[in-house]
Amino acid sequence: MQSWVIGNWKKNPATLTEVNELTSAIKSKFLQKQSSQDFDSTCYPQLMVAPSTIHLVMASQSLEDTNILVGCQDISAKSATIGAYTGDSSAQQMLNAGGSWTLVGHSERRSYHRETEDTLITKMRFAFEQGLGVVFCIGETIEAYDLGKTIPVLEEQLQILKSLPNLNEFFAKIIIAYEPVWSIGTGKVPSIEEVEKVHQAIKQYVTGINASLADAPILYGGSVNADNADQFAASKWVDGALVGGASLDADKFLSIADSFYQGKQQLNG
Ligand code: PGA
Repeated sequence: MQSWVIGNWKKNPATLTEVNELTSAIKSKFLQKQSSQDFDSTCYPQLMVAPSTIHLVMASQSLEDTNILVGCQDISAKSATIGAYTGDSSAQQMLNAGGSWTLVGHSERRSYHRETEDTLITKMRFAFEQGLGVVFCIGETIEAYDLGKTIPVLEEQLQILKSLPNLNEFFAKIIIAYEPVWSIGTGKVPSIEEVEKVHQAIKQYVTGINASLADAPILYGGSVNADNADQFAASKWVDGALVGGASLDADKFLSIADSFYQGKQQLNG
């Protein structure tokens, strides 16, 4: 299976100049890698960056002649197209601005914007309707983790997939990102054994919802950095990483991609 390394830039960086510097650095380092004689495109992860909406056009223009994808962090739940919704940007607009995927369900949006299950379902529906892929983020709080309730909490979050019409048509457009809330931005990560157990449970659960989801990539996210990526990359249960802080540094981001590249090469023998 194709692995993925996705950078979630959140509300960073501050200026267009910095966006340009970051995309240019990622692009040149990636192209350098790609042009090396022993580059094996079948094992190299698919790269994607998700800038702020206001930076989407610049990032996608800067990366348009590469196969690095640009995603968005959020889309409107009010309409998939246009309309009188002050402050919103729709799936249609994101696609037109160069986005090809959107995050849905990130814990920062669930908590700071009180996004409900209905909102998440609507966003997914709008994304698929317009042709965007969805990186569906799920994760348990520290309280749930401490109570040993991680898997039931994740299943509860995943069950909304049952409400999506025509899931069969969209299975290639869903990535699941397991991000423990207590791990995001904290430097704390679960053990690889815990992550593997959780990823197996996720796979089993989503396959039960719809057999076509058996092939949905399951990424780990939460404090992934250049120093700890190897352990995740070496696991056949981890199909990539959703990276926040470390994705704002081109060297660190590409180093995480390298970990998954090497991990995949080893797994493929
Ligand atoms: P982090 O963020 O890598 O900075 O922990 C991950 C995320 O929120 O997607």
